[in-house]
Amino acid sequence: MPKPKVFATHSLFDAARKILQESCDVEYWAKPERPPREEVLRRAKDKDGLVCLLTEKVNEELLKNAPKLRIAANVAVGFDNIDVAACTKRGVVATNTPGVLDETTADFAWTLLMAVARRLGEGEALARSGKWTNWDLDQLVGADVWGKTLGIVGFGRIGRAVARRASGFQMKVIYTDAVRAAEEVEKELKAEFRELNALLAESDFVSVHVPLLPETRGLFDAPKLYRMKPTAFLINTSRGPVVDEAALVAALEGKKIAGAALDVYENEPFIHPGLKRANVVLAPHIASASLETRTKMACIAAENVVALFQGQRPANILNPEALKAS
Ligand code: DGY
Repeated sequence: MPKPKVFATHSLFDAARKILQESCDVEYWAKPERPPREEVLRRAKDKDGLVCLLTEKVNEELLKNAPKLRIAANVAVGFDNIDVAACTKRGVVATNTPGVLDETTADFAWTLLMAVARRLGEGEALARSGKWTNWDLDQLVGADVWGKTLGIVGFGRIGRAVARRASGFQMKVIYTDAVRAAEEVEKELKAEFRELNALLAESDFVSVHVPLLPETRGLFDAPKLYRMKPTAFLINTSRGPVVDEAALVAALEGKKIAGAALDVYENEPFIHPGLKRANVVLAPHIASASLETRTKMACIAAENVVALFQGQRPANILNPEALKAS
């Protein structure tokens, strides 16, 4: 019996390739740049499975063009690039990679938080420039992190991993979420619930960990940003469109907040030129980018594909209804 045909829009890592090759006939996109849309559509056309990154839109156009497709396995936990309802309608299983990237992403939220508070970007540029002529008492003075108040917006796995790290900095942790956490969780993480507006008014650092949904798109608009303290910093490792970039630029220009540290952007890889300022730390969407974690993510996506083609339920299925439909 011929193996199911899969298109992977990335060459993935050896470990993931090994998982796939057992039971699938895989065509890999191996070029360093992301595949152009027409290339994705062309290669997906006759495939039974797709392993894709968050840069590929799995929408009605793609699904219509790939009538044999049975699974779209995203190598990411966020799946706003996938039209899950459209997949379900066509009996295509959609999967993501939750769980494995929480700690790595939390580490990076902290990397950004520390970098913006302590002006690491400016310090690094100065140290490399050859223009650092002397130590000085008020040189690149930043803000303390320890003992401050950390506000976490979105208290899922990643938000909680960020909270867990705060105890070493003797910080007060407050959080907001659509659903309040269980009392044991609040106790364990020493985290207090606040409504969003109260959290914004109280926090010295606001770290964002919500998925991109219709309700969270543009959540950080001008009124929300203006509720923050003028000494506070915004850290975003979730999805770019959660923050209205034009409003953020205006808030920074108007000194309504002290700074921002961003890993994600509204229209990646475009970065609003107004964000390229000294009090903003910019990273190119790398919060989960440790070799260990990215390898695990690719392996999980591969396992989801193999499971489906072996007649099992993929562990990270987003639309179990699609199984019934197929
Ligand atoms: C995700 O998984 O959603 C991240 O943005 C990339 O790791």
